[in-house]
Amino acid sequence: MTQAPQNLRIPGPTPVPPDILEAVAHPMVNHRGREFAALIKRVSERLQDFFLTKSDVMLLSASGTGGLEAAVVNTLSPGDKVLCVSIGAFGDRFAAICEAYGAQVTMLPYEWRQAAKADDIRKALAAEPDIKAVTVTHNETSTGVTNPLEEIAAAVREADKLLLVDAVSSLGAVPLDMDGWGLDVVVTGSQKGWMVPPGLAFIALSDRAWKAFDEARMPRFYLDLGRHRDSLQKGQTPWTPTMSIFFGLDVALERMGVEGLERIFTRHTRMAGIVRDSVKALGLKLLCEDERYASDTVTAVRCPEGIDVGELRNMTEDEHNVVLAGGQAKLSGKIFRIGHLGLVEEQDVRGALDALAQSLKKLGYIAP
Ligand SMILES: Cc1ncc(COP(=O)(O)O)c(C=O)c1O
Repeated sequence: MTQAPQNLRIPGPTPVPPDILEAVAHPMVNHRGREFAALIKRVSERLQDFFLTKSDVMLLSASGTGGLEAAVVNTLSPGDKVLCVSIGAFGDRFAAICEAYGAQVTMLPYEWRQAAKADDIRKALAAEPDIKAVTVTHNETSTGVTNPLEEIAAAVREADKLLLVDAVSSLGAVPLDMDGWGLDVVVTGSQKGWMVPPGLAFIALSDRAWKAFDEARMPRFYLDLGRHRDSLQKGQTPWTPTMSIFFGLDVALERMGVEGLERIFTRHTRMAGIVRDSVKALGLKLLCEDERYASDTVTAVRCPEGIDVGELRNMTEDEHNVVLAGGQAKLSGKIFRIGHLGLVEEQDVRGALDALAQSLKKLGYIAP
């Protein structure tokens, strides 16, 4: 166990500031008592200001994947046709969940460096009018690409389909307007932009999605959002929640409220800009094909020829206390990723970039 806090530059779990860590250590209280009911209502209402929705935001004691599974099983029935837009590993995961519960999946796959195009979605929906829902990843953490969600949502609205959105690594860090853009299900996870430890997924459903819920027949129990919605009215969760994370979240949302959405977004854009400019100045190449879609929460960088990603990451960690992420699935060994979401300031990204530059040099990299 490292003693000094690491400069954790992975795209989640993100660093947790000391006041939130302290809150996480709050003594247990009755999870069905008045104090905790007030806390649940408070965090749920505050989350609405980040989702930009009037819908209830429910808190599931699960990781982000649990939230994605809840999105699927509460709106669909076995045999329903779903268009799964995938620009990377998490887009594929959303599709795999749909398939696991018996949906008929049509994939709309892209190269793992591209963003999806709204017109392709229009065409795919026109080609198969019996498609019921579309799944999309807002920010593809595996590739560092952010999809043009507002445009995609407009295409899905035109065709009057349900839009299920994985906003696990975007919400709370980059703009997303659930009601304004007409998103039907939005899911995020506590360990990303929210600066709290893993353990909670947040999920909200539009009125259209709640209508779909009434007809949805996929099996569900723990993730049954009807139970979660009913419990929320009483300031409870149907099952014993990850209470420690709720205590932390309460402080995190207070903090984020003080900073304000616009300033949070600007800070992320600035940090991402510093990272992209610096890696390019080192002669490295971004994975993202078109920089207009480069993510403000995570940057994926192609590892230069002759450098071993594992060795590079071990060196930044062992010699500089900087933790970088590797590539996932087919990108393993080919890229490394720098996380810049949640608690991130200029000194954090500058420190990581210095460690990267020094480690590359030590490993024999010569900038072209
Ligand atoms: C975009 C995206 N979707 C889904 C997930 C899955 O979340 P979890 O690992 O919390 O289940 C992640 C986690 O990295 C993610 O980045």
